[in-house]
Amino acid sequence: MSLDHPKTPNDLSAFWMPFTANRQFKQAPRMLVASQDMHYTSHDGRQILDGTAGLWCCNAGHCRPKIVEAIQKSAAELDYAPAFQMGHPMAFELASRLVDMAPAGFDHVFFTNSGSESVDTALKIALAYHRARGEGSRTRLIGREKGYHGVGFGGISVGGLVNNRRVFGTLLNGVDHLSHTYLPEKNRWAKGQPEHGENLADELERIIALHGADTVAAVIVEPVAGSAGVILPPKGYLEKLRAITKKHGILLIFDEVITGFGRLGAPFAADYFGVMPDMMTTAKGLTSGTVPMGAVFVTGAVHDTFMTGPEHMIELFHGYTYSGSPIACAAGIATQELYREEGLFQRCADIAPYWEEALHSLKGTRHVIDIRNLGLIGAIELEPIAGEPTKRAFNAFLKAYEKGILIRTTGDIIAMSPPLIIEKEHIDQLIGTIKDVLDTLD
Ligand SMILES: Cc1ncc(COP(=O)(O)O)c(C=O)c1O
Repeated sequence: MSLDHPKTPNDLSAFWMPFTANRQFKQAPRMLVASQDMHYTSHDGRQILDGTAGLWCCNAGHCRPKIVEAIQKSAAELDYAPAFQMGHPMAFELASRLVDMAPAGFDHVFFTNSGSESVDTALKIALAYHRARGEGSRTRLIGREKGYHGVGFGGISVGGLVNNRRVFGTLLNGVDHLSHTYLPEKNRWAKGQPEHGENLADELERIIALHGADTVAAVIVEPVAGSAGVILPPKGYLEKLRAITKKHGILLIFDEVITGFGRLGAPFAADYFGVMPDMMTTAKGLTSGTVPMGAVFVTGAVHDTFMTGPEHMIELFHGYTYSGSPIACAAGIATQELYREEGLFQRCADIAPYWEEALHSLKGTRHVIDIRNLGLIGAIELEPIAGEPTKRAFNAFLKAYEKGILIRTTGDIIAMSPPLIIEKEHIDQLIGTIKDVLDTLD
């Protein structure tokens, strides 16, 4: 950062911060001014251990030289190229690399700039796909309670977090929701995938029977629900969703915005669970959070359906000015190379058992009522303060930050998703600090 950049801005009012308690923040700002590997530097010069990979995105750690240099080089060489009717080599290179690492059958990617855009893109592709096949009556979309699919109108319509929906009008028509799989009475303290809840997938048959299969275009779920506070798929559940959607000619979309790029110790949750959807939405870890970018992975069967008609005609009337922009692609290529060179997905798989044990060692700690984990994802659920939901976890977050660790809270749940380069001593520090914080918290 150059010296003429103020590290402490003198006016905080202009910036309306996203998903933030603006007034609280501006009274006691928490500013990050630099980052390296596993740490942020705060504006008051403290090292903050990153327990969240930024926002589930900096999977390779922070300011990794290979990615930094690729971004710098690209910015100096080709700043921007039109995304429509023109191309540049890096977009094709990144797309090829991505399909090479994806489960067999995913032969194409459509670039976006965020998870929300990836979700809207996938939903639109699903609708247009059925229409292109002469099944234009398939317009219904099915999401799931407690699902988070970003903040576009498509995403909040299929999503199932009430605060993200209730003040935004009527949303998309023709959307239905499966039940969530949060079953604390049955699955409390489960390590990894819980035993109970596979039968919740059977609801899909009921919803399809209610509307008629010929009206349903797609089902979208997060393989592991992150933003709702880490809700894991019960054993057998995703397999069942796949079987039912296939039986009825309905597309299955996995929203892999947090699970993609190694978070579970495999490239994608589809690999981890051995369940192959028809589309995968991704973002975040694609560039390790450095440059905004998303990608929708599409099977050959879906893609090829569009490749008909006169060859001079656009096949899909959809895209973004910054779809596959050069700097993002440079960051994406360097990130994917770094993941491979350092074996970071395997690293995640190797350290996940240590992470699981460390997290579950918090069982019995004050306020803790459940712990959930998979790969390098962890959640610690706290007993809410009576009449003041979310406050206890938010206070834990503030105290943890004072003590030098960055965690995230959603409701009364502490959620963590550290960079995949995390070492055992970092895990010890994270868990030890959380224990200290909870022991002294009201
Ligand atoms: C599963 C899932 N889908 C979509 C999104 C939205 O991504 P973005 O914030 O990049 O739009 C997120 C973000 O956390 C997510 O977790």
